[in-house]
Amino acid sequence: MSTGALNGRRILLIVGGGIAAYKALELVRLIRKAGGEVRAILTAGGAAFVTPLSLAALTGHPVREGLFAPDDETAMGHIELSRWADLVVVAPATAGLIAKAANGMADDLASTTLLATDKPVLMAPAMNVRMWLHPAVAANVARLDGFDGGTGFHWVGPDEGEMACGEFGPGRMAQPAAILDAAETLLSGAADQPLRGRRALVTAGPTFEAVDPVRGLTNRSSGKQGYAIAGALAALGAEVTLVSGPVALTAPPGVTRVAVESALQMQAAVQAALPADIAVLTAAVADWRVDAVASGKIKKAPDGPPTLRLIENPDILAGLSAAGPDRPALVVGFAAETENLIENARAKLSRKGCDWIVANDVSDDVFGAEGNAVTLIERSGGEEAWPRQSKAAVARALAVRIADHFKAPA
Ligand code: CTP
Repeated sequence: MSTGALNGRRILLIVGGGIAAYKALELVRLIRKAGGEVRAILTAGGAAFVTPLSLAALTGHPVREGLFAPDDETAMGHIELSRWADLVVVAPATAGLIAKAANGMADDLASTTLLATDKPVLMAPAMNVRMWLHPAVAANVARLDGFDGGTGFHWVGPDEGEMACGEFGPGRMAQPAAILDAAETLLSGAADQPLRGRRALVTAGPTFEAVDPVRGLTNRSSGKQGYAIAGALAALGAEVTLVSGPVALTAPPGVTRVAVESALQMQAAVQAALPADIAVLTAAVADWRVDAVASGKIKKAPDGPPTLRLIENPDILAGLSAAGPDRPALVVGFAAETENLIENARAKLSRKGCDWIVANDVSDDVFGAEGNAVTLIERSGGEEAWPRQSKAAVARALAVRIADHFKAPA
C-alpha cells in the first residue's frame, strides 16, 4: 500500500507513555511507506514501552527524549523541530499529555514542543475508559478544541473495545491505518479547499428514544462513517454542522457539533442548521418512538410487563428533500441494506426524493467496523461501486465527489 499520499510531508511524532506506544512503531512504518518523513520525540513514559533504538531505526533519525540535551539542541533545537514539521502527531496521547497541552504546561520536551508549534496537532488518545470518560479529561479535550486558531488540535479515536486493562469502552488508541488516514486528511485539506464558502449539514449516529427517564430504544450505529464525512467535508473547506445522536466520538477538526438524542430533536436541529448547500444524512434514525414517555421510572407490576405503543418517527431525509426554498442543492442519503442492495437503494432514493444515495451492504459486520464497501447511486442514473476501504477513505472519496459536483458547470 504505497499511496505516496504523504510524499515529502514532515511529521513530528510524539510517543507518550501507554501500552499503545507499540502501535506508534507501525504508524512510523505506514507514514514512511506513504512517502512521509518522521522525526520522533519519546516521553519518559513512552520510553517505558518502546525503546529509542527501535524508533530511531524505523524513522531513520535520532530520537529526541530530553529538553536539555546539548547534543540534541545543537542538532535541531526543540523550537526548530516543532517548526520543521508540517504536522505534529501525538500517539498515544495520554491523559497527562492532553492535560499539559490544555493547560499550557511545558515541563518536558513533548509538552514544550506542543506549546511551541505553529502547526496542526493530531491527537490519538489512549487511556483507560474511566479516564477517557472522566469530566476532567473531557474538559481538557474541549479546551484544546476551543484553541483552534487555524491550526489547532485534531482528534482521531479513541476506539471502543476491550482494553489491555480488561475493561470495555472508548479509550483504545485508533489503529495506525486510521491515524495515517486522519493525517492525510489534515495535510491534504490544508493544501486544497474546493468547498470553501459552502455550508454542509451531516447527521450521524443512532437516535435514542426514551421509554421513561432511565430507559430507551436505540441501535448500534457507531457514528464513525458520518463523523468521518463531516471531517472530510471540513477538510475540503466546508463549514460543517454535525447533528449527532449519542456516540462515543470526538467532533472532527473544524466541525460544529450539535448533540441530540431523539429523532424529533434531530429533525429540529437539522431545520435549525439550514440553509445549507450540502446535506449528508448518515444517521440511523430510530423508525419508531414510544407514544407516551413515562414521566417516572416504570416499575415492575404484578400484572406483568408494560405494553409499549410505538409511533412512527418523521423521516428526516424525506422531509429535507421535499423542503421548499430551504432545500440544500445536494441531498445525500445512506441506504443500509442486507439484500438486493442496488434495487432497494434506488427505490429508497426515489421514495425519499434525495439526489444521491450511498448504498451500504450491511449483511456483514459494518456497524462499528473500520472498513466499508459502498455504491454511490445518483438520481440521474449514475452508479459507482467503490472497493472496500476504510470509513475515512469512503468519507474522503465522497467529499471529493461532492466538491467535483459543485465545481462542474450546472
Ligand atoms: N433517515 C432519516 N430519518 C428517518 C429514517 C431514515 O433521515 N426517520 C435517513 C437515514 O439517515 C438514511 C436514509 O434515511 O440517510 C435511509 O435510512 P434507512 O434506515 O436505510 O431507511 P429506512 O427509511 O429506515 O428504511 P428501511 O428500514 O425500510 O430499510
